[in-house]
Amino acid sequence: MRRSDFLQWVISISIILLLVAGCTGSIITSTPTALSPTLVVVKPSEIPTIQAEPGAPGIGDSLYPQFGNGGYDVQHYTLDLTVKDIATSDLEGHTTIEARATQNLNSFNLDFIGFKITNIIVNGQPAKFRRSGQELTITPPKPLNENESFMAEIQYQGSPGKMESIALPLQTGWIKFDNGSFVLSEPDGAASFYPVNDHPLDKASYTFRVTVPKPFEVAANGLQTETIDRGEMTTFVFEERDPMASYLATVDIGEFDVETSQAANGIPIRNYYPTSVTEDVRKLFERQADMLVYFSDIFGEYPFETYGALLVDKKFGAALENQTMSIFSIEMVDPKKSDETQQVIAHELAHQWFGDSVSLADWRDIWLNESFATYAQGLWIEHTQGRVALQAWIRKLYAFVLENRKTMSPPGEPSADDLFNGGVYYWGALGLHALRLEVGDEQFFRILKTYYHRFKGRNVRNSDFIAMAEEISGKDLTALFNSWL
Ligand code: TRP
Ligand code: ZN
Repeated sequence: MRRSDFLQWVISISIILLLVAGCTGSIITSTPTALSPTLVVVKPSEIPTIQAEPGAPGIGDSLYPQFGNGGYDVQHYTLDLTVKDIATSDLEGHTTIEARATQNLNSFNLDFIGFKITNIIVNGQPAKFRRSGQELTITPPKPLNENESFMAEIQYQGSPGKMESIALPLQTGWIKFDNGSFVLSEPDGAASFYPVNDHPLDKASYTFRVTVPKPFEVAANGLQTETIDRGEMTTFVFEERDPMASYLATVDIGEFDVETSQAANGIPIRNYYPTSVTEDVRKLFERQADMLVYFSDIFGEYPFETYGALLVDKKFGAALENQTMSIFSIEMVDPKKSDETQQVIAHELAHQWFGDSVSLADWRDIWLNESFATYAQGLWIEHTQGRVALQAWIRKLYAFVLENRKTMSPPGEPSADDLFNGGVYYWGALGLHALRLEVGDEQFFRILKTYYHRFKGRNVRNSDFIAMAEEISGKDLTALFNSWL
């Protein structure tokens, strides 16, 4: 329970007590004959019991019905992790979840994979639980009322297991490697290191308190607020105060050089480079701050308190837009492929607006993340090299999509086992370019800005974007979106 809710609770309880006291007083002053009927009005058997039901084991995603859970809404996660051994990632975890029931609940689910759970406490009282696959079902000692704020604490220990996502052929979740560990969760890896309502529909703020043996260091989302020296160990505290989708939560452990600067619009930048990474590689991030200023101009104010890149000295073939701290595999950042690298850096940065701030309500609409971030690569090319360079880039994209169409799904219809296929990146980005040609530059950029402004910090569906594009342009765009999506 948050402090304000607690006060509210104290105040309402006090009011009820005052009312009850008042009644008693009036009963005492009335005649004894009137007394007994008044007192027996409510027999224990007649006290209306609230209808409490289990929360749903899924939040209702159309591609992944088992993702997330129903019946409550999380406000804040506090992840307290003590990693005793970096090589095995053997850890003790204590996750505290502050949430609000959205229905009367006699039990509710979290998504959580692996570990041994040693204790679960709800509102200060031990709770029963059972596990089945990634569903953790918690039964609090007393049912929770609709709208009631509650606090769940889950204590666990063990090493995060290896997990393959059902959505893409990559290892996701908490990944160990020679020099530490890192996290890649999109879309379903978060549950591999903390109990979570694992769906972007339930965004929450986060506190990370991660303790590691010296000389290891920790990077996580948001602002680092504290470093506590504990002798052999160090605790790193990070606060992500803006609402964040669970798949964007990151905890990365290694030995880093942290390079800090500030973008021209005042946003603090901190890049985490493994100490092993050379200067020519680090230099590739030189223009990241300029990109941030440019995207702020064309999309709207940068959504978060800080930004930066975290480079991992391991090949995992991808980059991921973790909120305030995108993560890059070493081979994605290559001095011999400077142009491609700039595109990846621009892509992950653009996701901070499209995906991280404006978030999906349903994974099927993934093109709202990937096509927008891909088209932003083209916008950066246009900004730095001009319109002709953009057109050349579009033509290359078009040829690529034509040639590889068989491996792609239409952007609006991705398959559940290949969510991040080329269709939701390249084909969809061409769709955005088609929209630009249809409505003209002025309207197009107005659509992007208004879309971001209206939905920042919230969730969207395809229909929201289409309705907005039609509203701004005053055009019926059904045919265009039907043919591109
Ligand atoms: N969203 C990432 C991108 O910007 C791609 C991605 C999805 C990913 N899931 C991932 C990368 C898991 C690494 C691990 O394109
Ligand atoms: Zn992307």
